[in-house]
Amino acid sequence: MSFAPVAQIDLDALRHNLAVARRAAPDRKVMVVVKANAYGHGLVPVAAALTDADALAVARLDEAVILRDAGVRIPVVVLEGCHSAAELAEAAGRDIAVVVHQDEQLAMLEAAWLPQPLAVWLKLDTGMHRLGFDIADATRAHARLVASGAVRQPVGLMTHLANADDRWDPTTEEQLARFSPLASRLGGPVSVANSAGILGWPASHGDWVRPGLMLYGASPFLNGKGSDDGLRPVMTLSARLLAVKQLKAGDAVGYGGTWRCSHDMRIGVVGIGYGDGYPREIAADTPVRINGHASQVIGRVSMDMITIDLSRVAGGRIGDPVTLWGEGVPVETVARAADTIPYTLFCGIQARVRHVYAEALTGNAEVSA
Ligand SMILES: Cc1ncc(COP(=O)(O)O)c(C=O)c1O
Repeated sequence: MSFAPVAQIDLDALRHNLAVARRAAPDRKVMVVVKANAYGHGLVPVAAALTDADALAVARLDEAVILRDAGVRIPVVVLEGCHSAAELAEAAGRDIAVVVHQDEQLAMLEAAWLPQPLAVWLKLDTGMHRLGFDIADATRAHARLVASGAVRQPVGLMTHLANADDRWDPTTEEQLARFSPLASRLGGPVSVANSAGILGWPASHGDWVRPGLMLYGASPFLNGKGSDDGLRPVMTLSARLLAVKQLKAGDAVGYGGTWRCSHDMRIGVVGIGYGDGYPREIAADTPVRINGHASQVIGRVSMDMITIDLSRVAGGRIGDPVTLWGEGVPVETVARAADTIPYTLFCGIQARVRHVYAEALTGNAEVSA
């Protein structure tokens, strides 16, 4: 039996969550966001499981190339676009769609010789002030794209929401008010909504929605839980008990001795730490589950180990699996305990954690390193 931590990926839950997105934004096309190794879930296996998606979105051309090399044939969109003529030629040659968000990219396109016209999304900055043309420059940028002869018609229009995770923040409506009149004037398909837009802001749905986090089962909302919106956890992270110890009242546990036993108690040492992506910032008392019992972290997280309270856990033997997040331990709760967000927990999973892909309906499991 391997004692390496495991990220069990439930592909049925993934497809269920895509169906939730489709129900929330009916009749819209769905561009599923699989950048950053599908938020730590595994780029190619996740893409292969989501054959029902209308397109895949990644941040960088390298990620799109991995998908094409793996035989993925549905449209792929590079959200950061291309950074050189060679990248543009590769994107066109492999039928990869790109975002154009600044003048330098427009100029590159105008100068490029491409094997075939590129599918392009023009990105507008409606208030996030990250990527995108200013609204005042949008008409000019759109006209240049069309005149370049290098792009397919119609050009898509995209923007990104900055504060949609807060259902009461007026910024989303302000962004939509800047985007919508322009989009109607320029025509072409529009794409605005991330997960929070899909679930919380119907006016943002447009023609194409772009779910990321919700596909993986976590809530995009402040203080939300995925189950609030009918989402199911996709990743269940677990590790095994490496050692069990009986300690006395007053004994200190872990680096710095920051945690002391209030009574004589049994503790467990679990084989996972910040070297695997379980954050060092995690607070003592963060929930874990073992043998169907709720327990919690005690002491500091080390590189390869954590310690947990076994005083109220029946059994608790070396080799028993301990769930850190996922089924039975909401990732949102763990994220809050580390003063972070589910995105960083998922993306922080390290290569030495084994990914195991399971189809709950068939019981088949496939392991990849
Ligand atoms: C441009 C863009 N669209 C969509 C998404 C998906 O966002 P979420 O994971 O919040 O659904 C992201 C993620 O960061 C993004 O950068």
